[in-house]
Amino acid sequence: MSTKREHEDKTVFVAGGSSGINLGIALGFARAGARVGILSRNQEKIDAAVRAIKNVGSGAAVGFSADVRNPEEVKAALRSTYEAHGAIDVLVSGAAGNFPAMAQDLSPNGFKAVVDIDLLGSFNVLHGGFEFLRKPGASIINISAPQAINPMVAQIHVCAAKAGVDMLTRVLAMEWGPYGIRVNSIIPGPIDATEGMRRLAPTPEALAAVTDSVPLGRLGQVEDVAAAALMLSSRQAEFITGAVVPVDGGWSLGGDRVAAAAILAGLARANPSIRD
Ligand code: NAP
Ligand code: COA
Repeated sequence: MSTKREHEDKTVFVAGGSSGINLGIALGFARAGARVGILSRNQEKIDAAVRAIKNVGSGAAVGFSADVRNPEEVKAALRSTYEAHGAIDVLVSGAAGNFPAMAQDLSPNGFKAVVDIDLLGSFNVLHGGFEFLRKPGASIINISAPQAINPMVAQIHVCAAKAGVDMLTRVLAMEWGPYGIRVNSIIPGPIDATEGMRRLAPTPEALAAVTDSVPLGRLGQVEDVAAAALMLSSRQAEFITGAVVPVDGGWSLGGDRVAAAAILAGLARANPSIRD
C-alpha cells in the first residue's frame, strides 16, 4: 500500500492541476503530505486550487499561470516549483482540451488546438521537467484517455492527440529508464462531475447511459484516479514503467461506444444533418 508516510516530503508538480481530475490528483498527494506545484492558464482557478491544496496538506503549495503550448512558460513554472520545493519526485501531465466535432466540421486550427494542448503540451511538460526531476526515483504520470485506445466519432483530434501521449509514455520509459525515471499513463474512464464529462455527455440521459455502460456500474470519482497516481508513484510500483493503466471500471473494454452515441445525439440536436 502507498502510505501517507511514503509520499511525505515529496515534491509533486501537476500540469493542468487547477480543476477536475488533475486537481484531485494534486489534492491526493497533498493529503499524503507532499509539497505541490500546479500550472494552468486561469489565475483565479489557480488561486482557488492552491488554497484548497494548502487546506488539505502541509500548506506547501504553489501555482503558476502558464499555457502548456508555450515551452518557456512551462519551464519557468517547473523551475519555480523546483526552487520553492526541491527536486520533483512526481510529474503529472494532464492539461487537455476537448469538444465534440465531426471531422468535416472541425477546422485545421480546431484540430491543431487540441493536438497542441494535449500532445505538444505534454512534450513541453516532460521535456521541460527533465532537468528538475529527482534522478533516480522520479515518477511521471501522463493523463491519457479512452480515445487513445478506442476510436470515437467526433473525437478525431482527441484520439490522435491522446494516442500520441501514450507513445510519449512508452518512448520516454525507454529513454529515461536508465536515469531511474519511471513513466506511465493513466486512462481515466468517465469521471463524475468533471468538465470532460460535461462536454461529452451534457444531458442527464447521456450521463445515465454512460454510467450504465460501465461494467462496475458507476462513474469514476476523481479520488479513484488520484489513488492510482499515488500507487504508480509508490515503492510498490518501482518496477512498473511504460504502462498504460485504465482506471475506468472496465469501461475501455467497450462501454465508450455508448459515449460515442451520446456525443452523436448531442451534435444531432444542434445540427440535424448529423444522424444520431
Ligand atoms: P478540466 O477540469 O477542464 O481540466 C483541464 C485542466 O487543464 C484545467 O486545470 C485547465 O485549466 C488546464 N488547461 C487546459 N488547457 C490548458 C493549457 N493550454 N495550458 C495549461 N493548462 C491548461 O478537465 P477534466 O475533465 O478533469 O480532464 C482532466 C484530464 O483528464 C485531461 O487530460 C482529460 O483528457 C483527462 N480525462 C478526463 C476524463 C473525464 O471523464 N473527465 C476521462 C478521460 C480522460 P485552465 O482552464 O486554467 O487552463
Ligand atoms: N467545435 C468545433 N470547433 C471548435 C469548437 C467546437 N465546439 N470549440 C473550439 N473550436 C475551434 C475554434 O473554432 C478554433 O478554430 P478556428 O480558429 O478555425 O475557428 C479552434 O478550435 C481554437 O479555438 P480557441 O477558442 O481559439 O482555442 P483556445 O486555445 O482558446 O481553447 C479549447 C482551447 C477550444 C480546447 C477550449 O475548449 C479549452 O480551453 N478547453 C480546456 C478545458 C477542457 O476542454 N476541458 C476538458 C478536458 S477533457
